[in-house]
Amino acid sequence: MKKLAAAAMVLTFFYACGSGPQEAKAPISVSVNPQIGAKAPSVAATTGSGDGAQKPAAAAPAKDGKALIAASDCRACHSDKDKLVGPAYAEVAQKYKEKDIPALAKKIIDGGSGVWGPIPMAPHAALSTEDAEAMVKYILTIK
Ligand code: HEC
Repeated sequence: MKKLAAAAMVLTFFYACGSGPQEAKAPISVSVNPQIGAKAPSVAATTGSGDGAQKPAAAAPAKDGKALIAASDCRACHSDKDKLVGPAYAEVAQKYKEKDIPALAKKIIDGGSGVWGPIPMAPHAALSTEDAEAMVKYILTIK
């Protein structure tokens, strides 16, 4: 029975130590996620629509206006050659020059009407100026 007693003592020993001191419990730190409330990332370019030849432009250093347009809703109202709800991009390209890029980018972000008719363009508030300008640069190449 000595063995059993020894075993019991060992168990008691372990139990005493194993139950541990209180400070073993790590304090639970509640960290506030800095992402919450941050500005939504601009258009995450997706493949699937468009010609498939474009890679997602999300992390590309030089913004690809064509891919950005494909990933946004622009094509619902604009086509290259035909007037839909909005003017054809070819017409826009004829009307404007390089120097108009910032103003057109602002118009895409803010929306507005009156240049091509009474129908307003919907605002695109989630677009960054950089992305909108890349889109305009591409539109101005459509002839
Ligand atoms: C709800 C339909 C609609 C959508 C979506 C839309 N547009 Fe337009 N867009 C218009 C209309 C209508 C006009 C003409 C506005 C006017 O007459 O001032 C226009 C005008 C423009 C112009 C010319 C602006 C000017 O002042 O001459 C550009 C450039 C343009 N759109 C680019 C875009 C891009 C890029 C997108 C996608 C991010 C987009 N549009 C999405 C309807 C739309």
